[in-house]
Amino acid sequence: MGFRQQLDQAQTIAESAFRALHEKLESGVLFLPIQKELRSDPHPYYRRLRERDPVHRSRLAGGWVLSRYEDVLGVLRDPTWSSDERNWARHPVYRARGERAGLPDPYSEHFASMLRLDPPDHTRLRSLVSKAFTPRAVEAMRPRVALLADELLAKVESRRSMELIAEFAAPLPVIVIAELLGVPAGDHEQFRRLSDQAVKLLGDGPLVERKRGVAGMRAIRDYFAAIVTARRSDPQRDLISALVAAEEAGDRLSLVELLSTLVLLLVAGNETTTKLIGNGILALLRNPHELERLRADPGLMENAVEELLRYDGPVQLTSRMAKEDRELCGRTARRGDQVVLLLAAANRDPDAFPDPDRLDLGRRDVRHLAFSQGIHFCLGAQLARLEASIALGALVTRLPGLRLADASIRWSSNTVLRGPEALQLAW
Ligand code: HEM
Repeated sequence: MGFRQQLDQAQTIAESAFRALHEKLESGVLFLPIQKELRSDPHPYYRRLRERDPVHRSRLAGGWVLSRYEDVLGVLRDPTWSSDERNWARHPVYRARGERAGLPDPYSEHFASMLRLDPPDHTRLRSLVSKAFTPRAVEAMRPRVALLADELLAKVESRRSMELIAEFAAPLPVIVIAELLGVPAGDHEQFRRLSDQAVKLLGDGPLVERKRGVAGMRAIRDYFAAIVTARRSDPQRDLISALVAAEEAGDRLSLVELLSTLVLLLVAGNETTTKLIGNGILALLRNPHELERLRADPGLMENAVEELLRYDGPVQLTSRMAKEDRELCGRTARRGDQVVLLLAAANRDPDAFPDPDRLDLGRRDVRHLAFSQGIHFCLGAQLARLEASIALGALVTRLPGLRLADASIRWSSNTVLRGPEALQLAW
């Protein structure tokens, strides 16, 4: 590490320590989601935050942290809160520091996608792909997803044990999205490796991991660029060809936007669905009565998936930016403030869900925020629901006596997406 980088690091540590102290003295709580002990169960911490300081001034996050259901929902539903991180006052500082450490600015690298854009660009990009994700289009994928789940389980069934994540929960969504996009079957393995690598860019992993994430993201973009070129001369009946046609039609989609849309579809849908299956099976195994209830009544599955999303959805948080000084839940947010929305905390708010820490697969009206709300509501929600219900259904019906083979679980270090990195099961 060069002298400049060492100086940078020392400055970052000193600044963060000062901000943390300021934050703790000011409100009595510190918002620090990267604490290791939160990985296995962040909910007691979320509860503390929600009860003690639900509209929390976070010096570390450069803004606010909301943890109550109604507050989080209010911001999500209001599109005048920006999703564009360039509106965050701290963004230039982080970008400069990241660049010196070898991490490019996502926007200058063109990784920005609809997820981090505001209308009208967001509306235009979203409308181009939304057709592929309508309930009808997704329902048509049911037999294929069921077959893929069966094939994966057939490989391990007689062995009576497996590592759930690597052997089932990770490959399933990657193959589904690869097929939907039109990635050739022979490339699926490579595609999965790159996707796993790229996701390291999210969250607060060590710098070396985030650098690997950048490399993965670039490799995926180059890979997609090659397929796009091939589809120009030889269109197929797949999503990539449909997007290429939109790009060629003129002013609706640029090549850069096309590539970042493809990257988003890959990255947004894989790790999330994998972790929903992982968290979901863990919650069922830890609540044997509920598992039995589901086995006895498979018709409960649809509702069960909603409750599992509420109880332990993989996406812990998202954020919005204030484009001008404005009111925020009775306080004043300044222009450039970030508002961190703790989706996972909102989903356990007792004012929205009675007895929120209880898993109840029959719970009525589970209006959780695991897929967000408003204009950025998860585009892949229907697909994720379909995949999770098929995957969990296959696991609980085909593997009698299913149990955790190893109680010590390795949790992912990603603070945005929470879930087990590996889960050893036996039956
Ligand atoms: C359990 C699985 C999943 C969860 C929990 C999840 C969660 C989310 C959340 C919370 C957001 C919105 C973030 C915000 O408001 O700032 C989002 C957006 C998005 N998700 Fe998902 N997601 C899942 C699966 C998928 C799948 C399978 C796909 C597609 C193949 C997908 C595609 C997208 C896209 C394209 C967006 C951006 C939408 C927009 O900005 O308008 N997601 N997802």
